[in-house]
Amino acid sequence: MKIVSTAKELTAIREELKGSVGLVPTMGAMHNGHLSLIRQARIQNDTVIASIFVNPTQFLPHEDYEKYPRREEADLKICTLAGVDMVFMPTREEMYAKIEPEISAPKDLAYILEGSSRPGHFDGVLRVVLKLFNLTRPTNAYFGKKDAQQLYIIQNMVKTLFLNINIVPCDIVRESDGLALSSRNIFLDEKERVQALALSIALKNASQAIMKGERDAKKIELIMIESLQDLRVDYAKVLSRDFEAKEQIVIKETILLIAAFVGNTRLIDNLWI
Ligand code: PAF
Repeated sequence: MKIVSTAKELTAIREELKGSVGLVPTMGAMHNGHLSLIRQARIQNDTVIASIFVNPTQFLPHEDYEKYPRREEADLKICTLAGVDMVFMPTREEMYAKIEPEISAPKDLAYILEGSSRPGHFDGVLRVVLKLFNLTRPTNAYFGKKDAQQLYIIQNMVKTLFLNINIVPCDIVRESDGLALSSRNIFLDEKERVQALALSIALKNASQAIMKGERDAKKIELIMIESLQDLRVDYAKVLSRDFEAKEQIVIKETILLIAAFVGNTRLIDNLWI
């Protein structure tokens, strides 16, 4: 497995690659969720490139950029075992110049849900993802459905900027008790780890009500909020898959989305209905 840290080296290697290229962009601190993206990429592509870069521009000044887990050695082991061909691990200076064009996520999508408590977050995500796309020119790029809003905003960028890349949405991977895997789960102490289950339980309670025939979006949101009562809820929303509010739930067109604080750790989860 090649480990590359400069854009120049990556571009030179990319020039020589034949066949399909699968890109798995990550911020490291890999878990089984990342592994499932890599596995899918491995099956579907001749070459698999993973990037490991804790992207500073997607963190707000008060957020956990410095604290964000960094485990490069373990990540590289995971990548080797999973059959990644090349890991791109640039420095901050390599990825960003002092003066750059502004890239903004669409206002309608970027300032709701995640963007409402993290304004500017998606601008940073698009900046880095576009750079990674330009450097690796992937055939397929793999993103988890757990970051559903991120996935949708990236799909929108690819479509509207006519980027010739197939975005592959990958299912959420959960612990056996239902907790969605996240690099931030390591911040949870024993008590918080139990409390964190409320997110997946809230989604389950909501989906059970939908299975029993409830279609009123507001009632389903209430069920989620009630199930999250011990946590500080950021949002618990029922939206269409293009992130619009709808009064009625339509099966196969809906996402249930939750963000809540467990202690100081902000977790997100969602369910595609
Ligand atoms: O989902 C993530 O880990 C990040 O937002 C991404 C897509 C790697 C961009 O930094």
